[in-house]
Amino acid sequence: MMSHATAPGKIILFGEHAVVYQRPALAVPVLQVHADVDVSNSLEPGIWIDAPIINLAAELSTLAPAHPLRVIIENVFQAIGISNIPALKIRIISTIPVASGLGSGAAVSVALIRAISGCLSRRLSNEQVNQLAFEVEKIHHGNPSGIDNTVITFARPVYFIKGQRIETFHSSEPFTIVIGDTGISAPTRQAVDDLRNLWQAEPDRWNSVFDRVGEISRKARRLIKNGEWQQLGPLMDANHALLQEMTVSSPELDHLVAAAKANGALGAKLSGGGRGGNMLALVTPGAAEKVARGLLTAGARRTIITEIQ
Ligand code: PMV
Repeated sequence: MMSHATAPGKIILFGEHAVVYQRPALAVPVLQVHADVDVSNSLEPGIWIDAPIINLAAELSTLAPAHPLRVIIENVFQAIGISNIPALKIRIISTIPVASGLGSGAAVSVALIRAISGCLSRRLSNEQVNQLAFEVEKIHHGNPSGIDNTVITFARPVYFIKGQRIETFHSSEPFTIVIGDTGISAPTRQAVDDLRNLWQAEPDRWNSVFDRVGEISRKARRLIKNGEWQQLGPLMDANHALLQEMTVSSPELDHLVAAAKANGALGAKLSGGGRGGNMLALVTPGAAEKVARGLLTAGARRTIITEIQ
């Protein structure tokens, strides 16, 4: 039996970092990039994994016990109650840039979980897939909010509050964003840990910053629901300023944000963990190409134009 699964990338529109402290955030799938996994039964014993994106071609038991791929696969077997390890061939490919805030790790996890369970003819619910992917996010990030695995599992825009029931939404009028990649890979975990140290030293100050971010996310959700997306621009600018205050921006991110605005974006902000990775800009459909070109001229490694539905 051969099983295939695909999972999209994602981007956070509003609320990163504050989401770790239970404030709401909005994230959407990015269908232009995706992780794809093929799993098939094999005649050779063992589980052979081929993942050219991370230069890996190995049998499962030769990987360190805490290797994320090993953890995912063993957790899936446990979840579906398999005790005799089957002989499988697994191929993982992905067009999602690694460590750039587009959810590459979570997308590989979700596609792998679905392809393995599919090959073994066991169906897992979205909730089960999400929970299994979350366990792996903990290895990557330490104390993740769970927003990445959630938006990627459901492949729908989500309004996310840590620990609460998942709320998906759709926009009553589609709108366009341009994503710009600084090309700098920055570990989310470091930025999250640094902010935690700041918060522990001055909890009142940072709680009020997080409250302001939460208010922005709530307002953004209302505007999107009402089709008033043009008004999201100033909210993006305000969210970026708060992220700068949290020390998670960088000169390169600020430079791309300024370039997007100079080329006609309605608003722009960094997205995800920060210090590198991606930024995004809200544009009218007619301005998308100009903003994307402006970002490339300003040094972006690549751009993606995507429509939020
Ligand atoms: O760097 P990304 O896109 O995986 O985003 C992380 C989002 C944070 O809010 C910074 C961390 C989290 O766990 O939510």
